[in-house]
Amino acid sequence: MFTGVAFITGATSGIGQATAQSFARKGAKRIVLVDLGDLSVTVSLLRGVETLSVQADVSDEAQVKAAMAAAVNKWGRVDYAAMAQLNNDAPGLVETPMTAGQVITEDSAPDVLPMARPGMPEELADVITFMCCEEAASYVNSVMWSVDGGPMVH
Ligand SMILES: NC(=O)c1ccc[n+]([C@@H]2O[C@H](COP(=O)([O-])OP(=O)(O)OC[C@H]3O[C@@H](n4cnc5c(N)ncnc54)[C@H](O)[C@@H]3O)[C@@H](O)[C@H]2O)c1
Repeated sequence: MFTGVAFITGATSGIGQATAQSFARKGAKRIVLVDLGDLSVTVSLLRGVETLSVQADVSDEAQVKAAMAAAVNKWGRVDYAAMAQLNNDAPGLVETPMTAGQVITEDSAPDVLPMARPGMPEELADVITFMCCEEAASYVNSVMWSVDGGPMVH
C-alpha cells in the first residue's frame, strides 16, 4: 500500500511509534524516524523496514528541514509526513507515556466519554496512515478527524 518514503516525528514513543508500526504493517519499506530521543527501540520493532533515524527538535524549523534533507539525500523523496503536531487528527485521551496516570474508566467518565476508555496509540496510528493512503483516502482533503472516543455525542 505504501510504496514511498514515510517521515514520522515523535517516533520514539506513543502515537509516533505506533504510527511507524502501522506504516510498516501496511507495507512501507522506507521510514524516516525523527525524535529528540533514542530511536533504537522503534527501529527494532520495524522488521523488514529500512529506517533512517534522525535526532532532531521538530519545534526548530531548521532541524526539520535538515531531517527532510537527510531523507531526500538518502532516498530522493518523502511521500508521507506524519508529524505529531501537524497531522490532522484530533486525539482525545490516548494511553501513552505522556498521559500516564490519567484514568478514564466506565465509572469515572460515562457522562462525558461514551466509550469510557482511553484511546490506544494504534487507534490513532491507523487513522493517520489512512489519511496518508492514496488508495483509501484519495479524495480526502483539509479534514480534521476527531479520534477521541466520542464526547461530542453528548
Ligand atoms: N496522548 C494523548 O492523549 C494526546 C492527546 C492530544 C494530543 N497529543 C499529542 O500527540 C503527540 C504525541 O503524543 P504521545 O501521547 O504519543 O506522547 P509521547 O510522550 O508518548 O511521545 C512523544 C514523543 O515526541 C518526542 N518529542 C517531544 N518533543 C519533541 C520535539 N520538540 N522534537 C522531536 N521529538 C519530540 C518525545 O521524545 C516522544 O518520543 C504530542 O504532540 C501530543 O501533544 C496526545
